[in-house]
Amino acid sequence: MLEKINELKAQIEGLTASNAADVEALRIKYLSKKGEVSLLFNDFRNVPADQKKAMGQALNELKNLANDKINALRDAVESVDTVGEGLDLSRTESPIRLGSRHPLSLVRNEIVSIFARLGFSIADGPEIEDDWHVFSSMNFPADHPARDMQDTFFIQRNPADVLLRTHTSSVQSRVMEKTQPPIRIICPGRVYRNEAISARAHCFFHQVEALYVDKKVSFVDLKQTLLYFAQEMFGPATQIRLRPSYFPFTEPSAEMDISCNLCGGKGCSFCKHTGWVEILGCGMVDPNVLEACGIDSKEYGGFALGMGIERITNLKYQVKDLRMFSENDVRFLEEFQSAH
Ligand code: DAH
Repeated sequence: MLEKINELKAQIEGLTASNAADVEALRIKYLSKKGEVSLLFNDFRNVPADQKKAMGQALNELKNLANDKINALRDAVESVDTVGEGLDLSRTESPIRLGSRHPLSLVRNEIVSIFARLGFSIADGPEIEDDWHVFSSMNFPADHPARDMQDTFFIQRNPADVLLRTHTSSVQSRVMEKTQPPIRIICPGRVYRNEAISARAHCFFHQVEALYVDKKVSFVDLKQTLLYFAQEMFGPATQIRLRPSYFPFTEPSAEMDISCNLCGGKGCSFCKHTGWVEILGCGMVDPNVLEACGIDSKEYGGFALGMGIERITNLKYQVKDLRMFSENDVRFLEEFQSAH
């Protein structure tokens, strides 16, 4: 019997298992009622009385060894098994963290909803454009510097120019060539320019364009729309001023400044101590643009305006470096969690 005990000890010491089913099979083989260790206990009654003490001790040692070994094997396979089976690795970490809207989306939505309250609806156009919609229909002279490779990303030069739009004004011609007035649209979108990337410039950014074409549209309509927009966006105390400017597609053209909303117009480093910051370009649609798009300029007139969303966002949230907008740094994006 001692021989059998020693043989089983050696066997048990060398046991291995690679999964829970293996371990259970070993437990049945050695420790169940009909298992090898239990069967030895049955034989114990035949052991002569003088050997009973020593044999009993050896049997108990064997049983403890088998128990310990099988428990150890079970622990080992369980810690491996849980990685694949017990755990649902696709489950979200809890508590579930809320995302936040990108600051540019927040500001774009706000601009769009202000114009929507004035009856403007959203229009869309392609980012990959042709020369006609971006430049020619918008009354750019053939030798205008914006048509230069230095400013514009061209995808193809000849026979027809294919390029990344440099402004959302291209959506004006997209809409006018398909629709007769009255037209009242707002077009938010991404634009591209061949600029070196820095804190103050990027090769892509975002604009919102607005266009209103109808009978008897006057500069007064433009000015009142601008004032309404500025006060809705930056608060009822906001003042505006218009400075004469030049754009090929508007005549007359202007740039709009608002009273600096950081210092309330007293003068600070943001407004370069002038009390005013420039936020958009605008003007009365040039008759050449209307005609190029198939609209009778004797019957209809209109106004247009365009602004950079990054610039408005900087004014609202004081983002110092334009590159923050496209780096996807979660710490930056999380700062806008409470904004809607
Ligand atoms: N397209 C101009 C730009 O990219 C912005 C602009 C100015 C749009 C005047 C207009 C406008 O519609 O009337 O700088």
